[in-house]
Order: sequence, then C-alpha cells, then structure tokens
Amino acid sequence: MFEQLNKNEAFLIEKFKKHPLFVSINTMEWSDFLNILIQRRFLSLSIVNTYELVIDALCDLESLKTVRSILSEEYPRNTKGEPLLSHRELLFQDLISLGATREQILTTAETQETKIIRQKSLDFFTKNFDHQYYEIGILTALRFWAEVLVSIEYEYLWKKMSERLSEKTNDNKVKSEFYYFHKIHDAKISDIGNESIFGGLTHSDELAIHLKRLIASPEACDYCIDIESDICNLKYKFYDQFL
Ligand SMILES: [Fe+2]
Repeated sequence: MFEQLNKNEAFLIEKFKKHPLFVSINTMEWSDFLNILIQRRFLSLSIVNTYELVIDALCDLESLKTVRSILSEEYPRNTKGEPLLSHRELLFQDLISLGATREQILTTAETQETKIIRQKSLDFFTKNFDHQYYEIGILTALRFWAEVLVSIEYEYLWKKMSERLSEKTNDNKVKSEFYYFHKIHDAKISDIGNESIFGGLTHSDELAIHLKRLIASPEACDYCIDIESDICNLKYKFYDQFL
C-alpha cells in the first residue's frame, strides 16, 4: 500500500535535489551563500513552534511520544541534567564559524518571501482540521517538512560549507555541530513500511513508523502524497528567491 507514497517521495526528493541553487552551489559567491543560510535560519527558528503546534494537535498517544522526544532533543542536557547549547545556539555558532558576524545574523531582516513561506509552512498543520486524515496529514507534513527535506537541504548546503566546517577540533570532532548532524540524523534512510531499528532510527524514520501504523487505506496514502507534493513546492520556492 505504501508503494505509491514511497515512489512519490523518491520523485520529490530527486526533484528537490535538482533545484538550480543546489546544482550550482559550488560556484556561488560566499557572501550570497551566507545570506541564504541567514534566511534559512528563520525557518530553523520556527521549527520549535511547529513541533509544539503538532503536539497540541495530535491525539494519537504513540506518535505524540515520538514528536515530544524529537522536540526535547532540540534542548540537550548533560548527564547532570544541566542545559547544554540548544540547536538554535549551535546553528548560530556554525554561522559564526562560516564567517557571518553576530550583527549580520541578528540584524538581517527576514525577506517577504521567507516570511510567506514560513507562514504557509505553518498552515499545513492547522488547515483541514475536520478532515478524517488530519492527524496523518500533520505527521506527514512534519516528517517531510522538518526532517526529510531538511536533511536534503543540509546535504547540499554542506557541499559548500564542508571545506570550512569539516576540519576536526582538538578532540577530533567535526567542527560543525548543527548542519552536519542534522544532515545525518534527520535523513530518510528507509522507505515507509521498511524501517529497521538496527543502528538506530533517524527522525524521518522514527516518524515513518507511526505513518505505517496509522495509514490504513490507499485514500489516506493519496492524502499524504498531495501534502508532500505541496511541501516540496513550497521549499523549492524558498530557494527560488535566491536565483
Ligand atoms: Fe530532526
């Protein structure tokens, strides 16, 4: 039953990877690249709101546990329970390591396009509230918008930033604490229905397990296919503004 959905995901991922900005990323001026990352940060800042919104909207207790647990990872703690740097702070740190200044990050205004895309992204989680597949829809949207496509974005942006961020620190860790790890732990590794728990699950695959459990008809699959297609178009448009 998930064949069409998985096929569509593969199609959308390939389409997204072919965005002209990703294709030409290596020849882009560094200042233009930093500007994209600074605009992209506005979407990262809205991820917490999105996760909170989905937590309020979900009634399915099992998926709620997973969503809550992914959100809690945004605010890591050490073994004594003391707060460590949040993922937003790590993002800020990576931007500084890439050559952005604090002033530049803090004072660059969100473009009108970014604002619209951020708002339209949030709409995915509130529209169709009365629809019979509403919960399946928001889980699908969350997984595709905040995990599957994010890892593709960072995979391609990483190609440009890796030369400056992949050098190792004194304790032999990759210097990037944000982009590099999200590219890996958000990625879709398995098709929906084929998740393997061996080796640990990525965020995409953790959420896919709930989709497998909740999607019970080809109609529900079609509903998810439409949502993922709309989300892919929206993310595509975010990068269009820089062409
Ligand atoms: Fe994630």
